[in-house]
Amino acid sequence: MYNLSQRLKTVASFVPQGKSVCDVGTDHAYLPAALYLEGKCKSVTATDIKEKPLKNARKNLDKLGIDGVKLVLCNGLSAVEYKDAEVVIIAGMGGDVISKIIDDCPYKKLSAFILQPMTASVALREYLAQNGFCVNDEVAVCENGKIYSVMAVNYDGVKRNLTNTQKKIGMLKPITSENIQYIKKQYNIANKCAADLTGVSGKEELQKENELLAQELAFILEG
Ligand SMILES: C[S@@+](CC[C@H](N)C(=O)[O-])C[C@H]1O[C@@H](n2cnc3c(N)ncnc32)[C@H](O)[C@@H]1O
Repeated sequence: MYNLSQRLKTVASFVPQGKSVCDVGTDHAYLPAALYLEGKCKSVTATDIKEKPLKNARKNLDKLGIDGVKLVLCNGLSAVEYKDAEVVIIAGMGGDVISKIIDDCPYKKLSAFILQPMTASVALREYLAQNGFCVNDEVAVCENGKIYSVMAVNYDGVKRNLTNTQKKIGMLKPITSENIQYIKKQYNIANKCAADLTGVSGKEELQKENELLAQELAFILEG
């Protein structure tokens, strides 16, 4: 596939055949360009809230001779119809921004979502669980020494209460080196919190919570 980073390659690998796809917050448009060139989507649309990234996107698409990607200047999906967004990609943004974009989407119960938060993954998982969205698949991916998760999501109307472990690692299983790295990172954070809070007056509950979380994550890592 056209020269995508491993992060965007992983996002692209979640895109099903034959659907209209909208990349929200496209910036450089690398992902829609690759999807267009691959030819597996019914149509490719890309949005950005700012003019400058969209100009950049147009320049990059022109360089590749691509005239089939529709560029839209708008907040989230506000100027995109469902027919152009059967699959919505929201990558490279914070989990809070991603949650808001989904929440504001009038056809959020119809579209499939591919999400890749840079930060606030816990907040995103909580939003999805509390609002009837199901995470069907999730994998971890590394870029520039940082580890991220990519999720395939759709609405099924079931509201879920997540355990602390589910909030931290979602659906990730220790089956790839990246997944293991992601889970280990959460284990190290919980373990350090538990150690730092040991003996601190008033923080007993939080200490215990982190200790239990670290134990559960260690158990998952042991397979
Ligand atoms: C860090 S870039 C990510 C680019 C690309 N999606 C990626 O993953 O490499 C974030 C882009 O999202 C755009 N953005 C932020 N909030 C947005 C919103 N509510 N609607 C549309 N675009 C948004 C920004 O202008 C910026 O170009």
